Amino acid sequence: MKLEKSFIQHGQTSVYAHSFMVASLCLYIAESLDIAVDERSLVRGALLHDYFLYDWHIPDKSHRFHGFTHPGRALKNACRDFSLNETEKNMIASHMFPLGISLPMYRESIILCIADKICASKETLSGLTSACFKISLVSRIYSGNNVFK
Ligand SMILES: [Fe+2]
Ligand SMILES: [Fe+2]
Repeated sequence: MKLEKSFIQHGQTSVYAHSFMVASLCLYIAESLDIAVDERSLVRGALLHDYFLYDWHIPDKSHRFHGFTHPGRALKNACRDFSLNETEKNMIASHMFPLGISLPMYRESIILCIADKICASKETLSGLTSACFKISLVSRIYSGNNVFK
C-alpha cells in the first residue's frame, strides 16, 4: 500500500489517502446508520478497493479504460498480495457500480460504493477549487494586479 502514496487518485489526493478516507467513511456510515457489517472485511475491502498500483493519469495502453478495468486489476493484485474472503473480493470488484458488470452483493459492498463516490466527488471538487484558485492568482499577477504587492 505504500506504493499508493506516490499515485494521485483525484485532484491532489493520493490513492493511499483516498483509500484511507473511504475506509473511514465506510465505518462512519455503518456505525451511524447502525448497519450490521463485518468490520474487518469492510475496512480491508475499502483499503484495497483501488489497489491497481499504477498512475492512471499517465497515458498507457494497459489502462486505457481505467474506469471500467481498474476494479479487476485491483482485485487481481489484492488476491496476489493478501488472503481475501468473498465479501472483500466482491467489494473490490463491484465498487464502481453501476459501471462494470460486477454487482454489489453484500452490505459492505454497497456501503463502499456510496463512500467511494462521496470521497471521489469531494476530492475532485477540492482539486478543481484549488486549480481555479491558482489560475485566478496567476492571471491577477500577469494582468498587473499583483496581490503580493
Ligand atoms: Fe476505484
Ligand atoms: Fe476509490
